Amino acid sequence: MHKRAIIIFLVGLLVLLGGAAAFHFLPGIEGTSARLPSQAGSGTPEIGGAFELLDQTGETRTQADFAGRHMLVYFGYTYCPDVCPTSLSIMSQALDLLEAETGGLEDRVVPVFVTVDPARDDVPAMAAYAEHFHPRLVALTGSDQQIAAAAEAYRVYYRKAEDPSATEYLMDHSSFIYLMGPDGTYVGHFAHNASPQEIAEGLKGFLDL
Ligand code: NI
Repeated sequence: MHKRAIIIFLVGLLVLLGGAAAFHFLPGIEGTSARLPSQAGSGTPEIGGAFELLDQTGETRTQADFAGRHMLVYFGYTYCPDVCPTSLSIMSQALDLLEAETGGLEDRVVPVFVTVDPARDDVPAMAAYAEHFHPRLVALTGSDQQIAAAAEAYRVYYRKAEDPSATEYLMDHSSFIYLMGPDGTYVGHFAHNASPQEIAEGLKGFLDL
């Protein structure tokens, strides 16, 4: 009886460690131009899933709120010195370009920003930050657990980078821009350093515009 309990415990531990390892070794940490594997060929990567977060007005938002529309999703944080604001600005410009060309995007694509730094990015911080980007940007935060669950669903890596010499810490994080379909499943992604034109062109293809 006792031995069996130990074996169950060890198997459980192995499963946990395996999961943690898989999570930590995913590619695409900010600053690299790594691509996700298997975009072509071996099926759609399992990216996306249910989440429950708060938008910049303090309203609870879940995946269901976006049903029927595409989501352009980026995970980052408001204290990010360069990559995040650049990526969000590129997303905004891409949507503006596409809107100018085709119109009627508001019912089709929702730009979404999810923080990986909920300790500093509370609702008011996200509201102030969202002002700098696309007027329809939905800026989401939540508890540590809610953010961890959303990041795990989207296969997003993030970690606090401790630097005792800095007054404000940085976060390491993946920086793909994901395009999710109207049913909430993964459609494709863009690198954080893609140009607004490249993203607009890509969206045209994905949205069949
Ligand atoms: Ni960043």
